[in-house]
Amino acid sequence: MPDLLGADVVGKTWDEFLTWFARVWKQGQHVALVGPTGMGKSTFACGILDLRKYVLALDPKGGDSTLETSGYERLTQWPLPDKAWDAITEGRPARFIVGGYSRTLEDRARLTVLLRDTLEGVFEARGWTVYADEFQLLADRKMMNLGKQVETLLIAARDKRITVLTSYQAPAWVPSAASRQATWVVLWPTRDVDVVKKLANVVGRDWRMLWSAMKALPPFHVLVVGRNPHEPIVITSAPERPSRYTKAA
Ligand SMILES: Nc1ncnc2c1ncn2[C@@H]1O[C@H](COP(=O)(O)OP(=O)(O)O)[C@@H](O)[C@H]1O
Ligand SMILES: [Mg+2]
Repeated sequence: MPDLLGADVVGKTWDEFLTWFARVWKQGQHVALVGPTGMGKSTFACGILDLRKYVLALDPKGGDSTLETSGYERLTQWPLPDKAWDAITEGRPARFIVGGYSRTLEDRARLTVLLRDTLEGVFEARGWTVYADEFQLLADRKMMNLGKQVETLLIAARDKRITVLTSYQAPAWVPSAASRQATWVVLWPTRDVDVVKKLANVVGRDWRMLWSAMKALPPFHVLVVGRNPHEPIVITSAPERPSRYTKAA
């Protein structure tokens, strides 16, 4: 990585990054993935969710093709089916995409109820990592209106040992808890300086430094920034995951 970025910015291959992140990313530490659409937020999320054993990836789009590449099974009901509890009891990982494919208005209404039941149900449990993909869709009052439920999880994390990942395009589009409660911010290149200023403030870094580091990012690379000033700012790139359909072909 170019040294003009400063001593506390380091480049890591994805494997090096995962090894480091597995060590520093504690239970209950939320991650905010912030960037324009189509830049790789869901891809990156699936990459780090593999580090967690109990995952619920909420799919408010109702069939996100990138979430599909996680290979996780789709859940279309809450409470969890018995076989999921069996896996947990036996110490096996339990990772799911929550939400069936949605085409019609009726599907969307059902999906909203499912995601609400999941968010409220998970509040009672411990140890889950919940991924709120497309948080602005979940939170939008005219769409799913589930911002409050996600906010409740974000705030309850320490007691409940629940980790929440959120992905969104700009902090102003979602409840402010998504950025304020984040221990880790993953930042994609954006032209919106307010996004960088807001997130730099959250992690206690100089926004100009993040802005210039961001400008120097190669395609599909991100800045991973933690609140702990002793941890470096890491530049890495999540590998594109093979689609399940191409794999099968
Ligand atoms: N690191 C990467 N290298 C190459 N292609 C990528 C990478 N990350 C994502 N992509 C591709 O970019 C597209 C959008 O990625 P996605 O994760 O769905 O973005 P977002 O969730 O931000 O909208 C996908 O087709 C994905 O395969
Ligand atoms: Mg996405």
